Amino acid sequence: MDRLWKRPVRTVRGGRRETFKKLQARGGCMSGYIAFERVSKYYGAGEHKIIAADNMSFTIEKSEFCVIAGPSGAGKTTLLNMLGGMDSCDSGSITLDHTDISCMKERELTDYRRYDVGFVFQFYNLIQNLTALENVELASEICRNPLNPKETLAAVGLGERMYNFPAQLSGGEQQRVSIARALAKNPKILLCDEPTGALDYQTGKHILKLLMDSCRRTGKTVIVITHNQAITQMADRIMRIRNGRIQSSDKNPCPLAVEQIEW
Ligand SMILES: Nc1ncnc2c1ncn2[C@@H]1O[C@H](COP(=O)(O)OP(=O)(O)O)[C@@H](O)[C@H]1O
Ligand SMILES: [Mg+2]
Repeated sequence: MDRLWKRPVRTVRGGRRETFKKLQARGGCMSGYIAFERVSKYYGAGEHKIIAADNMSFTIEKSEFCVIAGPSGAGKTTLLNMLGGMDSCDSGSITLDHTDISCMKERELTDYRRYDVGFVFQFYNLIQNLTALENVELASEICRNPLNPKETLAAVGLGERMYNFPAQLSGGEQQRVSIARALAKNPKILLCDEPTGALDYQTGKHILKLLMDSCRRTGKTVIVITHNQAITQMADRIMRIRNGRIQSSDKNPCPLAVEQIEW
């Protein structure tokens, strides 16, 4: 397991918090593009206290395709939500591209989610009364350097279906829209929580191929969460998690093409 990370940059300097811009401008000394250092997260209290993240430490490099696998309840979604700025940790630090996001204020977290993170969910989370194109446009309108929505939809194979509403699209097509929506924001990282969990075998494979192609084509850092061990074989980095603990985080010397994987 890689255990080579240096101390991350703190947001609190001289007792004062820094603005999001200043945080980004000031470089750090992290070896990993993404770094968790002794991150813990608890839910509840007393005898009902649940340790969802137990002293997690790991790094992920820029442009890596990382698959995080573990059984239900292992803490996968908790990890992704903390990295995506949708949940906070109780201790430790989380760093992305030299910026410590674990002590950001709400306003800073809003900017972070808006500009730096693209999310893909298991059940797509599309707005039902907007077309595919409008769903993508809506996301791109709140960003600094968005990609062209029509071109992004064409790139995920939906050039002919962009004026359809979600209900007029199959599950796989809806997931393509949600990937286009995340990519059009031109984020630093793409976080995918069980992106194939609601799809059949072949459609799931097509979606994984699309995510891998996006990673290779754009150099984006992509993290895919799954409870399906087989999917780890296509990753550059395989992370295993159980009971809130990182069991291993290793580079995969020979990632397989998704077509070579069976489950
Ligand atoms: N908002 C919450 N309140 C209380 N417990 C939670 C909450 N979110 C997650 N948990 C608990 O934390 C643990 C990890 O959950 P989660 O990260 O969703 O696991 P996974 O995504 O691997 O299935 C589970 O025991 C779950 O019940
Ligand atoms: Mg989950």
